[in-house]
Amino acid sequence: MKILVSGGAGYIGSHTVVQLVAAGYDVVIVDNFSNAHPTVLARMESLTGTSIPLHSFDLTDHDKTEHLFATEDFDGVIHFAGHKAVGESVEKPLDYYENNLGSTFSIVRAMQRYDVDKLVFSSSATVYGEDQAAATEDRRTYATNPYGWTKVMQEQILRDVAVAAPHMRFALLRYFNPVGAHPSGTIGEDPSGIPNNLVPYIAQVAVGKREKLMIFGGDYDTVDGTGVRDYIHVEDLAAGHIAALKALEETDEAVHTWNLGSGKGTSVLEMLRAFEKAVGREIPYEIVARRPGDIATSYADPTKANAELGWSTKKTVEEMAADTWRWQSQNPEGFAG
Ligand code: WQD
Repeated sequence: MKILVSGGAGYIGSHTVVQLVAAGYDVVIVDNFSNAHPTVLARMESLTGTSIPLHSFDLTDHDKTEHLFATEDFDGVIHFAGHKAVGESVEKPLDYYENNLGSTFSIVRAMQRYDVDKLVFSSSATVYGEDQAAATEDRRTYATNPYGWTKVMQEQILRDVAVAAPHMRFALLRYFNPVGAHPSGTIGEDPSGIPNNLVPYIAQVAVGKREKLMIFGGDYDTVDGTGVRDYIHVEDLAAGHIAALKALEETDEAVHTWNLGSGKGTSVLEMLRAFEKAVGREIPYEIVARRPGDIATSYADPTKANAELGWSTKKTVEEMAADTWRWQSQNPEGFAG
């Protein structure tokens, strides 16, 4: 089976590519490196012991996308490529709509032209808007920012394509909070600039790159007043993609939607404590004002994915912290180091 992985040099994409190769798939990557570092490819190849073909162009270029499908005989696509920073999407909505939707148009049109009928789509719990507590897949979808709307819209686009082309098979995977790194510590999350997300920020404080963690809000109605999220280890997330790909080979339903989460909530302070255990010392922090747009609590009801995919998360919060710390301490400057 030959699989195209768009955004395959990115954080979740690279971890999924390594597992796909290990599972015996032939993998081709397309990535424009707008949010990935070229070094990742060499790291993936040393982890897998094989060379991985990579095409570097922008998927909104429809002609280049069609040419790729004409020259390779794909059996399926896992589509990660897309901009994903909530705050940036508020500042640059047109870039987000054009890039995220445009790349999906390119890929699906090329799939239809070259008879590729299986697509696993990287969606997000953000499609549940502010109703992210114990979220089930039948909950209405809406967004509170342009990035979230691009995910809501791409899900709808794929559902509408499935009506027009009922032979196609789509898996819409709604991620909660992906964190962690490959246990080797050679690939991991490497955000450019100041990390927006909690775990890479804590890692940069722990390695001495940032002074202290600013905890956004200590007065939420949660276990300890700090925000609660459903953190999922990127290795578990990668395994969920392979399970979804296999499910699409057997199903006669055109569209499946699955939450990929642990079903457990972890607070900011609980994640910080797990990190201190991994690092072996205290990590400085200060509780400051809430971040605009943040919600108190988000966690999945993963029952459907557990039952229909035979998949569940395996890694603990402690393992998420330990694996992130191994990656960060071995790569203080990320891939550029
Ligand atoms: C987690 C918790 C913060 C940073 C985002 C996107 C979402 C998805 C996952 C793509 C919250 C707190 C954070 C910091 C903090 N991305 N925090 N200090 O906001 O749940 O989700 O990433 O699909 O779309 O919104 O993740 O890691 O930013 O925040 O206190 O420096 O950590 O308030 O409670 P979030 P996060």
